[in-house]
Amino acid sequence: MQGSAWELFELVAAEYDEVVPFFASFGTAIVAAIEPPPGCRFLDLGAGRGALTAPALALGCAVTAVDAAPAMVRHLAAAYPDAEVYTMDAQALGLPDDSFDVVASAFAIHVMDDPAAGVAEAYRVLKPGGRFAFTGGSARSRGGPAVSAPDELGVRLNELFGEFAAYLPADGSMGTPVDAADLLDAAGFVDLREDFAEVATPFPDTAALWRWSMTHGYRAFIEDLPDDRRAEFHDRVLALRAKDLVLRRVSGVWSGRKPGTGDLRG
Ligand SMILES: C[S@@+](CC[C@H](N)C(=O)[O-])C[C@H]1O[C@@H](n2cnc3c(N)ncnc32)[C@H](O)[C@@H]1O
Repeated sequence: MQGSAWELFELVAAEYDEVVPFFASFGTAIVAAIEPPPGCRFLDLGAGRGALTAPALALGCAVTAVDAAPAMVRHLAAAYPDAEVYTMDAQALGLPDDSFDVVASAFAIHVMDDPAAGVAEAYRVLKPGGRFAFTGGSARSRGGPAVSAPDELGVRLNELFGEFAAYLPADGSMGTPVDAADLLDAAGFVDLREDFAEVATPFPDTAALWRWSMTHGYRAFIEDLPDDRRAEFHDRVLALRAKDLVLRRVSGVWSGRKPGTGDLRG
């Protein structure tokens, strides 16, 4: 993987979350965990196709959504005319200080070149007392409520990725393992929390699982594999067997409050 992560998302924007609504389902669960108050000013950082934007709008929030990939932003603008959408680098936002009640970012902070810069910008644009919440890539998490059985699709898929990680080049793959609590703490957030969001996504068959894998961050991993290993990986995904073809995932939703008056989350 060369360049910044958003370049891959630019490439896959038209198909992103179209094979199965994996990120849209996660977004609904994440917004439910955040509980933004109706009418609040809500910023979606690294918004993609609007996984957080849609449920925040449905709750009556005034939503601003930004993404570095122009193609993602075109889709967002077409799908959510009620949101303010911008092509913008979340690490250097062209938005004023102290202007949002809630800032949220789903599966985007850990793919940024400098995750700490993204978190610092979230802090800057939040009003005092406002809360920032994010998901994705934290190395330190209580792990969530779901217990995976060994024959679940998610476990099988993790095993496959674990096995093929050995063939990646040293500088390959997307995403930095981040420590959510350290990132939030270093930016100045207080009252840190870890909530959880869970999804269960059914796939019609393993061909759909492969198509889905090629339309988001997994694609960076797959493209980094040497040609022969990529072909083998493809065949192994198609041959995956599990008790059902339902991908169950749990993510920590890490959040902190910008010091100041009150916690809007209640
Ligand atoms: C895995 S997708 C998540 C999208 C959406 N939040 C969701 O849950 O479906 C990561 C998104 O982060 C965006 N992104 C990556 N780096 C970015 C940056 N520096 N600034 C803004 N967006 C960025 C990508 O373009 C992509 O849309």
